[in-house]
Amino acid sequence: MRELLVAGNWKMNGSDAVSAALVSGIVAGVPEGSGFRLVVCPPFPYLASVAGQIAGSQVALGAQNVSEHEVGAFTGETAASMLKDVGCEYVIVGHSERRAMYSESSDQVAAKFQATQSAGMTPILCVGETLEEREAGTTETVIGEQLDAVLSATGIDAFEPAVIAYEPVWAIGTGLTATPEQAQDVHRHIRARLAEHSVAVAENVQILYGGSMKGENASGLLSMPDIDGGLIGGASLKPSDFLAIAEAAAQS
Ligand code: 13P
Repeated sequence: MRELLVAGNWKMNGSDAVSAALVSGIVAGVPEGSGFRLVVCPPFPYLASVAGQIAGSQVALGAQNVSEHEVGAFTGETAASMLKDVGCEYVIVGHSERRAMYSESSDQVAAKFQATQSAGMTPILCVGETLEEREAGTTETVIGEQLDAVLSATGIDAFEPAVIAYEPVWAIGTGLTATPEQAQDVHRHIRARLAEHSVAVAENVQILYGGSMKGENASGLLSMPDIDGGLIGGASLKPSDFLAIAEAAAQS
């Protein structure tokens, strides 16, 4: 049985005070139960203080990005070892906002995936199609290419442990959510694609859904057999909204 994972990607939101209040609200309201895990991914400047706030709680820390390089003259970049140092256990790699706005290539995403693992953290690899790609019927091809770029660099064994987040670009921040059936179809496809390399690894990989997930639609999505949690943007910025999704995970 795969554990459910609910991760909040705060993106570039908040302040020191806002992040402290958000985390204390989340830590105070973690639902009873087992079989699920919560992760928060604050902006870089707040990672260390959030790490202090969640110490001893059921909430784990993640980063939103990482450098593919280990060390050196890379002004403005952050090495995986540094994220590990401040207490990160997860790193989001290949988010569509980074692919689209910062021209991150699939090769770079693969290198970031590897850098994360080499430092002893778990990558959350984001994949997803645009609306044009979905309407052109190329969703599976696009996602297949995004997965293959990492698989061919790392091999299948690197996906244990790893987390994949299916985030249809058209559903991110738009209020449009994939239906549970639409999401399940893609999640099943992702797992089947990994199973071509290793059935055991495919069975264990957690595949999260991301894209306008909120308390009201979380139960339907999480009840699908291949949906193992959520990567939450907007609804991770208020304790009550994030905890409503955590509650749905606790009930699943
Ligand atoms: P929203 O939940 O705001 O649609 O964002 C999803 C996302 O991009 C999480 O990484």
